[in-house]
Amino acid sequence: MRIVAIANQKGGVGKTTTALNLSACLAAEGARILLIDLDPQANATSGLGIAQEDGGSLYPCLIGQYSVTDVIRSTRIPNLSIIRSHQELAGCEIELAQAGDHLTRIRDVLAPLKTSGHFDYAILDCPPSLGVLMTGALAASDELLIPIQCEYFGLEGLSKIVQIVPQICESGANPNLTIEGIVMTMFDSRMNLTQQVVNDVRTVFTDVVYQTVIPRSIRLGEAPSFGKTIVEYDPGGRGSLAYQALATEFLTRHRNS
Ligand SMILES: Nc1ncnc2c1ncn2[C@@H]1O[C@H](COP(=O)(O)OP(=O)(O)OP(=O)(O)O)[C@@H](O)[C@H]1O
Ligand SMILES: [Mg+2]
Repeated sequence: MRIVAIANQKGGVGKTTTALNLSACLAAEGARILLIDLDPQANATSGLGIAQEDGGSLYPCLIGQYSVTDVIRSTRIPNLSIIRSHQELAGCEIELAQAGDHLTRIRDVLAPLKTSGHFDYAILDCPPSLGVLMTGALAASDELLIPIQCEYFGLEGLSKIVQIVPQICESGANPNLTIEGIVMTMFDSRMNLTQQVVNDVRTVFTDVVYQTVIPRSIRLGEAPSFGKTIVEYDPGGRGSLAYQALATEFLTRHRNS
C-alpha cells in the first residue's frame, strides 16, 4: 500500500474535492482505496454523504485507544473504504503537540495497513494548516500530491509546501517522501491569468505537473452538498471526465515508477 497525502497549507484549493473524486475514480478503475479524512472540518466525510461519529475518526487510534482497523468503514462505492473525520481530530493539534513523538504517530498507526495487503492506496485528505495533523500526515506518506488553484496566489502557496518536503525528510521521520504530483484545479479557460499560471508552474516543475487540469465546474462544487462524488452526481460531465483522466494518469505514473 502506498500512502498519498493530498496537501497544501493554503485553504480552498481543491484538496478535498481531489481526495474524494480521485479516490472514487481510482476505485472505479479497480484500485482498492482507503480514503482517510484527516481534516477536523470533515468535508471529505460529509461530501461522501457519510455521517460523523464520536470515536469514529483516526483520533482514538492516535491516542492509543483503538487500532486502525477498528475505524475503517466500507462505503457504497465498491473498492472504496474510509476512515471518517470528526471534530475530535482537532484535539490532536493541542494534545499530540505536547507528545515527543507527535510527528510519527500517524505513520505508526497506519503501519499495519502497509503490510496487510488490503489496500493499494491510502489517500489522505489533509487540513489546510501546517499543524500536527498535516506534518504527521506527510511523515506517514510515501508521496505528496499537491492541488493548486490556477491563480497567482496559488503559486505562492506552492513554493511553501514544496519547501516542507526536505524539512520532513531531514527530520528523520520520513526520509523517502517525494512529490508525486502537482494538480492544477479550478481552471477557467476564459481567464488569461489561469493559462499563464499553468504555464509558469509547468516551466518550474516540468513533469511533476499532471497533464490533466481540473476545470472550474459548478457541478464539482455542488456534488458534495448531495453527498455524492462527481461521477455519481454528473457522470459524463466535465468534472467527471477530468477526475477520471487524473485517476488514469495517476495509475500510469505508478505503473511506470
Ligand atoms: N474544480 C472546481 N470547480 C468549482 N468548484 C470547486 C472545484 N474544486 C473545488 N471546488 C469548490 O471550492 C471549494 C473549496 O474546495 P475544497 O473543499 O476541495 O478545497 P480544500 O483545499 O479542501 O479546502 P480546505 O482548505 O478548506 O480544506 C468547495 O466549495 C468546493 O466544492
Ligand atoms: Mg478540504
